[in-house]
Amino acid sequence: MGKMLLFLICCLLFSVCLFQYVMADKKPPEQISLTLEGAKLPPVNFSHITHVEKAKLECVLCHHKDKNPQEPEACVKCHPLKEPQNNAPVAKDAFHKQCITCHNESASKGVATPAKCNECHKKQ
Ligand code: HEC
Ligand code: HEC
Ligand code: HEC
Ligand code: HEC
Repeated sequence: MGKMLLFLICCLLFSVCLFQYVMADKKPPEQISLTLEGAKLPPVNFSHITHVEKAKLECVLCHHKDKNPQEPEACVKCHPLKEPQNNAPVAKDAFHKQCITCHNESASKGVATPAKCNECHKKQ
């Protein structure tokens, strides 16, 4: 009886740990301040809550080349600051293309999204 109980407690502890491990894996940082090295304009605030929970976008839509889009690398890892590499546009263009293309599409469907320079590069 005692051994059975111990076994059940171990199973319970194991599933709690596994659950937390899986959940930790999937939780992106809520709010990020994006700024490229040497940036002249104010940093851009990016919210995973807005994009993942509110707009219901898939990770892979933005983390488009990662082996595991749940655990992505920074964009600059593949999008260098100055020279394009393996057809990957430089970081500034990569950000602008990804963010602004979708915002324009959303705007045309009637969802308000920032599209002007100072709506993203907001003075703090
Ligand atoms: C609308 C675009 C978008 C979507 C959708 C999105 N992300 Fe992100 N995420 C970003 C951007 C932009 C960054 C900042 C990347 C950088 O610093 O270069 C980021 C950063 C991250 C980071 C930090 C990476 C690092 O540099 O250490 C993690 C982790 C992450 N996202 C996980 C997720 C997960 C998990 C999902 C899906 C549930 C998701 N993201 C969906 C745009 C997005
Ligand atoms: C693991 C490497 C890698 C990471 C990380 C990565 N990219 Fe890319 N990206 C590429 C490559 C390679 C291309 C070249 C075009 C292709 O093969 O689709 C590309 C192309 C692009 C393009 C151009 C697509 C087109 O249709 O013209 C955009 C925009 C882009 N990336 C944005 C981003 C953003 C924003 C992030 C971060 C959230 C990011 N990428 C992270 C490798 C990466
Ligand atoms: C695939 C579509 C898509 C991409 C890619 C995308 N966005 Fe958005 N974004 C949205 C939508 C949709 C909303 C409006 C969400 C709402 O209010 O319901 C939004 C809203 C926002 C807002 C205003 C709300 C807030 O959270 O402050 C900011 C700022 C923003 N996006 C920044 C960015 C940046 C920076 C990037 C690129 C790194 C980006 N977005 C990429 C779809 C996208
Ligand atoms: C949808 C959001 C968004 C809009 C709109 C936008 N940008 Fe950006 N921009 C970014 C992100 C994200 C980065 C990369 C992070 C950073 O350095 O700010 C960036 C980077 C830059 C950079 C390189 C870094 C620096 O500060 O020197 C310049 C220059 C820039 N943007 C200029 C502009 C101009 C000019 C406009 C208007 C025509 C504009 N951006 C509109 C999101 C946006």
